Amino acid sequence: MSARIAVYPGSFDPIHHGHLDIIARCRPLFDRVVVAVLGNEEKAPMFTVAERVGMIHELLRGDGFCRVESFSGLLVDFMDRVGAATIVRGLRAVSDFEYEFQMALMNRRLNPRVETVFMMPKEDFSYLSSRLVKEVFRLGGNLEGLVPPPVLARMAARLGEERATR
Ligand code: PNS
Repeated sequence: MSARIAVYPGSFDPIHHGHLDIIARCRPLFDRVVVAVLGNEEKAPMFTVAERVGMIHELLRGDGFCRVESFSGLLVDFMDRVGAATIVRGLRAVSDFEYEFQMALMNRRLNPRVETVFMMPKEDFSYLSSRLVKEVFRLGGNLEGLVPPPVLARMAARLGEERATR
């Protein structure tokens, strides 16, 4: 039987506990998950793609279940390159649904072999997004328990760099 490989795509700028919760939920369902970091999408990301891949790699290091890669272009083409047929996406609230529904159907149209599976993160993380994480961090809010400490450390360093160059 061929390995059940899932791709978990996203911007991950930066990765937070909501993302890690979804990855943990993939373990009983798949043989491997490829965390796929989209390159060059946001105009002013906090972290470069290489930095995001590096941080995720550091968090999941030594874990044979997860692989981290970056991709550009169509997600379905990346899926073919890594031999995966399942896209995993987190659904936090009904508000996520419309966008996710459109993407899932477009991806299936582009490649009928591809299915999208939605997973709900732990309730504690259902309001969490990378956008809010960056906003709260820049305004000095406490993100303990929502963002892994190594990521918080990188964010602090980046904020320091940004303020020094202003
Ligand atoms: O974390 P995000 O930003 O919500 O992730 C969005 C992502 C990366 C899943 C989506 O933008 C994507 O798949 N982009 C790759 C380009 C592509 O395939 N576009 C067509 C999607 S139907």
